[in-house]
Amino acid sequence: MRTNRIVISFFAILLITGCHETPSPVITGRNITAEHGMVVSAHPEASKTGISILQKGGNAIDAAVATEFALAVCYPEAGNIGGGGFMLIRMNDGSTDVIDYREKAPLGASRDMFLDEKGNLTEGSSTETRLAAGVPGTVDGMIRVHEKYGRLSFREIIQPAIDLATKGFPVTEGQAKTFNSNKEYFLRMNASRPAFVKDGEWKAGDILRQPELAATLERIRDNGRDGFYSGKTAEMIINEMKRGNGIISARDLDEYEAVFRKPLSGEYRGYRIISIPPPSSGGIILLQLLGMMEPWSLREAGFHSLKTVHLIAEAEKRAFADRAEYAGDPDFVRVHADILLDPEYLKRRFIDFDLNMATGSMQVKAGALTGYESDETTHYSVVDDYGNAVSATTTLNNTFGSSIVVEGAGFLLNDQMDDFSVKPGTPNMYGLVGGEANSISPGKRMLSSMTPSIVEKDGKLFLVAGSPGGSTIPTTVFQVITNVIDYKMNIRQAVDTGRFHDQWLPDYIMFEIGTIDSLVIKGLKGMNYNLRERTTIGSVNAVEILPDGKIAAGADWRGNNTACGY
Ligand code: DON
Repeated sequence: MRTNRIVISFFAILLITGCHETPSPVITGRNITAEHGMVVSAHPEASKTGISILQKGGNAIDAAVATEFALAVCYPEAGNIGGGGFMLIRMNDGSTDVIDYREKAPLGASRDMFLDEKGNLTEGSSTETRLAAGVPGTVDGMIRVHEKYGRLSFREIIQPAIDLATKGFPVTEGQAKTFNSNKEYFLRMNASRPAFVKDGEWKAGDILRQPELAATLERIRDNGRDGFYSGKTAEMIINEMKRGNGIISARDLDEYEAVFRKPLSGEYRGYRIISIPPPSSGGIILLQLLGMMEPWSLREAGFHSLKTVHLIAEAEKRAFADRAEYAGDPDFVRVHADILLDPEYLKRRFIDFDLNMATGSMQVKAGALTGYESDETTHYSVVDDYGNAVSATTTLNNTFGSSIVVEGAGFLLNDQMDDFSVKPGTPNMYGLVGGEANSISPGKRMLSSMTPSIVEKDGKLFLVAGSPGGSTIPTTVFQVITNVIDYKMNIRQAVDTGRFHDQWLPDYIMFEIGTIDSLVIKGLKGMNYNLRERTTIGSVNAVEILPDGKIAAGADWRGNNTACGY
């Protein structure tokens, strides 16, 4: 009898708990440590969404896809379904993969489409028009990556974003300010009033509801990629094109495909660094910088010392000069990443400078490659209980993209065409210049700087990191990695400490106010450096796996970044 009672009670407990272990409670903050899983993103609602998927038994890819769709709702500044991005994956068996869901130039695009008769760039045409939009890649990218790696159903992982759009969510203080300051601009750019515009002013905590966006997400939930790239949503995109001078066609939408690519990787002081291949330049720049630093002891040179800032700035000038010459869409141009990352090439590349004097940018040219023939973004990091990791950066290009909302569909269009060299030799909005390798061609992907990255230590997952910030992205990720590896900072310190950046052209080092010691600034000026202050550079969301296996988050103070872990 007693045995029977025990057996009955055991089954009763199983029934009540649904055979699942109750997941540990979710911890939320900027710098938290958790045991099982972590999601760090630019908005508390998106991190909450991602962690709820992990707690349901989803893996890091399920959680990343759910976070990406949630960001499209609660972080319209950069989260999107009208833009694109790059996602780097490392599974617990050590295998790695990249899904490239970068936008493409429409088939009607042409090399000089943003130039007037005199060959000059028509002001604002590559950023503030329907013509500035590349064919969006996010929806196809999320569907493909989920098909290949997901555990839960697509329905389950997109539903939280639909609920967020339907029921609404409280806007943060920063968002209330940005919506208010962009109000006139939104009204000017759109025939109908977008959801981000309200009578009176937004305040922190006000609820933003987006029924039209919810309906678009429902069409994606019910019809997969056809819910976006054909049918009603596609019709709305094409109608929006007709309202201005847009050229995205039904064929462009129908033919868009996100692609899986092989990540780039390299060694730095015994750690393995995995990052994004072209059409982002981010991975190449990051690995070139680390390669050029390898022979130098940054630790001995000292954190933010005169010598360190000089060494890094010299390396950055060279990496960005190479970017301008060689980097573009690998489906259109040969990028020669193998040569650009060859340790012998990097050694030769980093000897022609004076330890006591800055090399003026005009003296720095792209490196000669043997065997070469001429021919407001947002990052989130996820780690799950199985040991899988995702590092993803996604964008509309600048804050709110083109600020044009597809009427009836409730989502913003990107202005990513500005990332092409719209006029080779003329800087884009990030001051980046580029050449033929990144000129506009129909169906080509524009060059990016996005650098979602993962670091392994002793063959095991160690860091997951990435950032927004246009041209400053690869140098921001570089600093986070060297802060941890060379300066032994924990992830919180590595993310929070000040940053600087040199991108060859324009010829100056920009640095966050208060970051560089006044004596070092004096020294740099004495070495002929030009210097510019900036409030912030980048906004990193990173994760570190601690020696005891716990997961530590570094959510940057530069923004509303939030980590959720359990
Ligand atoms: O792909 C790129 O490199 C740019 N479109 C990224 C833009 C960006 O990071 C804006 N955020 N601050």
